[in-house]
Parts: sequence; structure tokens; C-alpha cells
Amino acid sequence: MTELFEKGRKPPKFAAVPNHIAIVMDGNGRWANERGLTRTQGHIAGEAALLEVVAGAIEAGVSHITAYAFSTENWKRSPDEVRFLMGYNKEVLRRRRDQLNDWDVRIRWAGRAPKLWPSVISELRAAEKLTAKNTTLTLTMAVNYGGRQELVDAMNAISEKVASGKLKPGSLTQKSIAKELYIPDMPDVDLFVRSSGEKRTSNFLPWQSSYAEYLFMDEYWPDFTKETLWKAISLYQTRQRRFGAAVDAPLN
Ligand code: IPE
Ligand code: IPE
Ligand code: MG
Repeated sequence: MTELFEKGRKPPKFAAVPNHIAIVMDGNGRWANERGLTRTQGHIAGEAALLEVVAGAIEAGVSHITAYAFSTENWKRSPDEVRFLMGYNKEVLRRRRDQLNDWDVRIRWAGRAPKLWPSVISELRAAEKLTAKNTTLTLTMAVNYGGRQELVDAMNAISEKVASGKLKPGSLTQKSIAKELYIPDMPDVDLFVRSSGEKRTSNFLPWQSSYAEYLFMDEYWPDFTKETLWKAISLYQTRQRRFGAAVDAPLN
């Protein structure tokens, strides 16, 4: 798959590349059903898109990609689909970790353990261990992740620290809350991309994306390529990020 870095497919020159892109990889089921295939076949087709996008992100100079692979709400799907997704996440990690390691990608996991298959957790841990020292790009896989649940888990951890005297009541800050999130040192999201035309966030990274630029793209996830990612980065460059500040510049 080193052909993913083939000549002749180069990103445009970007003036400002987002440091952290969050991606809701959505539309696998519709992509498949529109082709007369089963939803499962759509998930299978999504694997190549993820690898493409990671390669394209490396070429563009992006440092962090966080990919939504399975939400805490996805347990509502049919037992067959849940079983498939669990098994498939495990397989993809095992099949791709060496390749990602060769690309100097650090793999991390954001999510919670309860309910998640232990074999998926051990695959995530193995990938994290193998790639821990890599620095070119951090690929965080959000598996059994839910934004509200992440905040609930953080608040429970904080309440225990208060109860045991490790934290003073009333002393919380944004920093001390961020410390209790699944990946405390995850940088803020600059660009939040969702594929498949749905215009909602579905509980993905609410704390980390509070000042992100949002982009909803029509392509189904299996149709996503490097070029789609580069288009997203180009659109990001046209946004003016002000973070609440303002510049007074009247036109004469
Ligand atoms: C995203 O595609 C993959 C996961 C949620 C695991 P979907 O499976 O949600 O596909 P659609 O949205 O039904 O087309
Ligand atoms: C969000 O997509 C979760 C992932 C992509 C893993 P969903 O397809 O589950 O979200 P909803 O149900 O459309 O909000
Ligand atoms: Mg969906």
C-alpha cells in the first residue's frame, strides 16, 4: 500500500493546514445499499478510505486525525451489525498497524471500556504500544466513544478525587477538566468533517471541538479520497477564525 504515496497525486500548496481534523466517517450503509450491497460491505469499503485519508493527511502536513469508528449510540444497531463492526475494527487494526507504523503514525484510542469487546481493547492497546514513539501523525480511533459519556466519565473521576481529598471543591478549571478526558493531551479540533451529507455532530468530541470549523461534505465515506480531504483543507483555509476577537477595519 506504499502506492498510496504515488507520484503525481500531490496536495495543493496550503497556506494554513489544520493541526487536528476530526472525521465522522459516515455513509457506509447508504453507499452499499445504493449499490445493491449489504451494509457490511459498506463498512468493508470504508477501510481503504481511512488509509487514503491518513496518507493524504500526512502529505498535507496534518498532525492529528481523530476518526469516529463506533459511537456509544451504535450499540442500538442490529446484533449482526454490531458484531461485524467489533470484529472488523479488530481486524483492521491488526492488518494495518504495521503499515501505519511504517508511516510513522501513532495510533491512539479514545473511548470507554465497558461493553467494548475485550479483544478489540487488546488490539487497540497493542497498536498503541507498537506505535507509541511515532511522531508524524497521531491517528486517534474513537471506538465506543460518546462525547457526553466522556464528560460523565470525567466528572465521575473528578468527584472521586474531591471525595478523597485530592482535589479541593470549587477549584476546577478548564485545564483540570481536560485532564480527565480520555486523551488529556489531545489538542483542540481545528476542522470537524462529516461525510455523507448529514449535518449533525452525533456526540463526537463536543469539548474538543467547541471552536472547530465545521464542514459537512456530501461524499459517502467509502468515496472519500485524499483529494476529498485536500478539498476540505482548502475550504478550511477560506474560513476566518476569530476565537471571539475582532479587528476594526472599515472600508474607507
Ligand atoms: C458509518 O456509516 C459507520 C459507522 C457508524 C460504524 P453508517 O453505518 O452510519 O452508514 P449510514 O449512515 O447508515 O449510511
Ligand atoms: C456517527 O454516525 C458514528 C460514527 C460514524 C461511528 P451514525 O451514523 O451512527 O450517526 P447518526 O445515527 O446518523 O446520528
Ligand atoms: Mg450513519
